[in-house]
Amino acid sequence: MLPFKGPSYAKPLSALHALCFAQPWSCDNFTKILNLPTTFGLGDEKAFILCSDLGEDFEILTLAVHPDHRRKGLASALLTDLQTLATQNHKHRIFLEVKSTNTPAISLYLKAGFVQTGCRKNYYHEGNQTFDALCFTWEKSPTD
Ligand SMILES: CC(C)(COP(=O)(O)OP(=O)(O)OC[C@H]1O[C@@H](n2cnc3c(N)ncnc32)[C@H](O)[C@@H]1OP(=O)(O)O)[C@@H](O)C(=O)NCCC(=O)NCCS
Repeated sequence: MLPFKGPSYAKPLSALHALCFAQPWSCDNFTKILNLPTTFGLGDEKAFILCSDLGEDFEILTLAVHPDHRRKGLASALLTDLQTLATQNHKHRIFLEVKSTNTPAISLYLKAGFVQTGCRKNYYHEGNQTFDALCFTWEKSPTD
């Protein structure tokens, strides 16, 4: 899957994000993020992953699969494509943060070879509730 870049993707990505998150990012938020030269994405209107190129590493900013297309391997395929891109571009690691209660996403990342490397206490604020962020890292195999 070829990477995409640029603010023209803000509208479809924000529409899908709104179907997938309780606190979605607005179209303006996506425009600002996509305007950064370090931002790129993979995917389409069914499933996408948005990332930042940190130089030696990639960071996953968000990942969303349309509710009608879940459990078909789309998120796993996006992570595999991102890992391939990381290896091809000599990146060392891929970082991400996930809400500690998001068990589907945590299972997904563990299955894709990510390991938990940290925890940010009370990182997410939703109304009067707070949730920890679990930090996960994937490392390129030393032989790749
Ligand atoms: C989490 C999410 C991205 C998974 O997408 P998906 O395309 O359905 O995932 P896949 O089909 O590739 O599933 C791969 C593995 O993830 C895990 N998984 C996915 N959904 C799961 C669920 N609802 N419950 C438990 N495990 C789940 C399983 O281990 C699954 O493997 P299996 O199907 O062989 O059991 C999707 O549910 C989603 O968009 N959720 C809302 C947004 C979100 O939470 N994004 C991640 C933020 S960090």
